Amino acid sequence: MNLKGKVTMVTGASGGIGREICRLFLEYGSTVIGIYNSNIDSISDLNIELYKLDVSNTAECEKCYKFLIEKYNKIDILVNCAGITSDSLTKNMSEEQFDKVVSVNLKGTWNITRLVGPDMQRNGNGSIINISSIVGEFGNIGQVNYAASKSGIIGMTKTWAREFAMKNSNVRVNAISPGYTMTDMLRTVPQKLLDKFASNTMLGRLAEPIEIANVALFLADDMSSYITGANIDVNGGMRL
Ligand SMILES: NC(=O)c1ccc[n+]([C@@H]2O[C@H](COP(=O)([O-])OP(=O)(O)OC[C@H]3O[C@@H](n4cnc5c(N)ncnc54)[C@H](O)[C@@H]3O)[C@@H](O)[C@H]2O)c1
Repeated sequence: MNLKGKVTMVTGASGGIGREICRLFLEYGSTVIGIYNSNIDSISDLNIELYKLDVSNTAECEKCYKFLIEKYNKIDILVNCAGITSDSLTKNMSEEQFDKVVSVNLKGTWNITRLVGPDMQRNGNGSIINISSIVGEFGNIGQVNYAASKSGIIGMTKTWAREFAMKNSNVRVNAISPGYTMTDMLRTVPQKLLDKFASNTMLGRLAEPIEIANVALFLADDMSSYITGANIDVNGGMRL
């Protein structure tokens, strides 16, 4: 696989999975633009361009994209990886908790893709990779906000796969639904529960970020040239 000459934009670049995607895409020759919101230290060692942005803020996204297009001229690959959780049983979940998670995960993905996707379509090619979750496919107790946002991402992926391929454009849009992956997002989950998640997979363990990044690389590259509108499970066989 080869991403030489490509410009990749990755949101959530400072997170466990986003950082690994940035590192891997850089290794395969892409110019990488990392969008982060916090924790710049986790990614400052990589030779990528970094921009601070809250993806849930529509006006900020527009301003940032305008700047990026003036600087780089085009985005070839977009990875929507920014995401948060704020868990509670539905009976205890506040409106603020619901809105915040949906704003970052779902609207944030929309905020960026509504700018990048149409330009890719005009250019005639591109690859968009949205990071959903196993929770978006199967639900999870205490995560109705997160599940709604991640199911929504699968719906948007399929819609964009249709829309951005109109007029014979070669834009592909796919989702990845990771299972439980060892990053900061799992930091607050008790070890006992993590062990249970691991034992529910066929492989008997949780994922490493590189195992998600490898699939993103495949979807970004021409190796996956006939895959669009797909949602790829990367969950160690957790739900068969
Ligand atoms: N770790 C898992 O088990 C797991 C499983 C399935 C899906 N995912 C998804 O993978 C993606 C990456 O998660 P991770 O595990 O690397 O988590 P992480 O917490 O390590 O990283 C999350 C990233 O999102 C960024 N972010 C948060 N709010 C933002 C905002 N308002 N604007 C811009 N960026 C913002 C953070 O700065 C960070 O870079 C997320 O979308 C997550 O939902 C993770």
